[in-house]
Amino acid sequence: MKRPAVRVAALPCALTAALVLAGCGSDSAGSAAELSVSAAYMPQPVSASMAAGFLTITNEGGTKDELTSVTSDAAGSVTVHETVGGAMREVDSLEVPAGGRLRLASGGNHLMFEKLKRKPLQGEKVTVELHFADSGTVEVEMPVEAATYTPDTGS
Ligand code: CU
Repeated sequence: MKRPAVRVAALPCALTAALVLAGCGSDSAGSAAELSVSAAYMPQPVSASMAAGFLTITNEGGTKDELTSVTSDAAGSVTVHETVGGAMREVDSLEVPAGGRLRLASGGNHLMFEKLKRKPLQGEKVTVELHFADSGTVEVEMPVEAATYTPDTGS
């Protein structure tokens, strides 16, 4: 099942323009990062204490960006984790390469929701704000899927 890409409604420069006037010049070498988010989902967790989240961030711009933090009203804490040799660890940021994509997928990079306000149930949606170094904040509605759900990655 293919999900529609979530159009990025971020304000790429507005947030930082006042602070860094030169930071978002339209005459910079590469075009700015142009992010869109797709395939977002949260497998229904077994408990209310912790859940994982997955999504794909595509960058059609000519400049890389970085996912620097994540927040959600549904959880007291959301962190970005990578998986190395079967063990996961928290990272400060993940790069979204220019003209490329950052995939958060089962067994690899993922979002970690802790201190959930309550257990998310299949069919519900969890609102997540992705914070990027250059593109500002992107809000994503992350549907809660069955615990055994695996996304169609055929395309
Ligand atoms: Cu983790």
